Amino acid sequence: MSSYDVIIIGSGPGGYVCAIRCAQLGLKTACVEGRETLGGTCLNVGCIPSKALLHATHMLHEAEHNFATMGLKGKSPSVDWKQMQDYKKNTIDQNTKGIEFLFKKNKVDWIKGWASIPEAGKVKVGDDVHEAKNIVIASGSDVAQLKGVEIDEETVVSSTGALALKKIPNKMVVIGAGVIGLEMGSVYRRLGAEVTVIEYLDTITPGMDGDVQKGFQKILKKQGIEFILGAAVQGVETKNGKATVSYKLNKDDSEATLDADTVLVATGRAPFTDGLGLEGLGVAMSKRGQIEVDDHWKTSVDGIYAIGDCIAGPMLAHKAEDEGMAVAEVLAGKHGHVNYGVIPGVIYTHPEVANVGLTEEQLKDDGTPYKVGKFSFMGNGRAKANFAGDGFVKILAHKETDRILGAHIIGPMAGDLIHEICVAMEFGAAAEDLALTCHAHPTYSEAVREAALACGDGAIHS
Ligand code: NAI
Repeated sequence: MSSYDVIIIGSGPGGYVCAIRCAQLGLKTACVEGRETLGGTCLNVGCIPSKALLHATHMLHEAEHNFATMGLKGKSPSVDWKQMQDYKKNTIDQNTKGIEFLFKKNKVDWIKGWASIPEAGKVKVGDDVHEAKNIVIASGSDVAQLKGVEIDEETVVSSTGALALKKIPNKMVVIGAGVIGLEMGSVYRRLGAEVTVIEYLDTITPGMDGDVQKGFQKILKKQGIEFILGAAVQGVETKNGKATVSYKLNKDDSEATLDADTVLVATGRAPFTDGLGLEGLGVAMSKRGQIEVDDHWKTSVDGIYAIGDCIAGPMLAHKAEDEGMAVAEVLAGKHGHVNYGVIPGVIYTHPEVANVGLTEEQLKDDGTPYKVGKFSFMGNGRAKANFAGDGFVKILAHKETDRILGAHIIGPMAGDLIHEICVAMEFGAAAEDLALTCHAHPTYSEAVREAALACGDGAIHS
């Protein structure tokens, strides 16, 4: 039996970051992971592999649509699906091995296997029981089941199966117009599949700013993705490798079906806490299956903490990372903190979509006096040169104080541009602070400054 200051269960972005920070703060640390490789869903079957496929297919799109205009003539590349899968795998391997290296460098022990917690202070992996002053659960999430739909990861796939289809489908139906559905739908659309997204709500990307929902849907439609909104999927039947999706329109209860070679179920994820033995320990859980924690990520049982997708909040890798670092600080006797008001969200389509803070709809509901500064990428020289004029930057600021309350971007590198606004919000900046900051020309970032200027006396290039 070995003994540690902290044992972290799960090595996704929450768990591995927490482990490294704990070790850096002088705590004897181990991390338990049952997969063959470190990195959790994000690195193995989530964020990283999907970004590889998004990048490769975006390059294909550029070659097919924009190369000739730039004077780059010749045949467009053909798709070698196996090679693209190899490239994806190689990207995953580099990242998972990178974490293994960081564990060694920081002296974090990797305990291989699936963990359970027989009692506070003990973690069981296989036949071994390890002692830990504190335990951090970072066990992540799993695909949420949809009634009437059985995922076989061949014809009816989750995001995991969608990353490794045997061949590119002719017809794909995506259930759910959230982040996963739109990212993976984009990948297969660019690879030539007919893609139809069925969404229960009347808008895509639930919870996002209304302008983004409308603008983004228009752009995706232009790219050839079809949408059936306000429709609840009732079930999927499969026969000989083909699927039939049945759905009901909310407005009149009429029923219809759609055939597909592949159906992607992207209707959300649920906390994954199976096998940990939390019930026996008396760890309080919410009705939605999330582990309940206090302001310091402590569960209802002393010495047991939880972070990431298995607790409340957005299921985002970077939210889990921040919690991982903060809980490490708490365990080392410092003051860990996460500002949940400034957590960016990004959809890695092309163009990208990014947001932080409040939406216009939330401000309206709150009755907060606000103003809007909006700037289209059509007015940005760099974007025009790069065929990236679709989209806009929208900044929401307090009407009286000018303090930035939220920002919503559709456009090139939106996922990177958003961080300028995150930093501004962390410092409690006003839109004018951004507007008065010199931005290099020609950059996409100028669109952010122009939106900030539009909160005041007006943008220059619109
Ligand atoms: P999601 O919660 O973002 O979207 C699911 C959608 O499915 C919703 O719009 C919902 O209304 C719809 N839906 C549910 N049941 C339905 C039915 N029966 N018929 C039709 N539509 C139905 O879930 P998603 O996309 O699966 O993502 C899961 C989690 O993973 C999210 O929390 C997301 O933030 C996270 N994620 C984040 C990424 C990123 O940051 N780029 C990438 C991938 C996942």
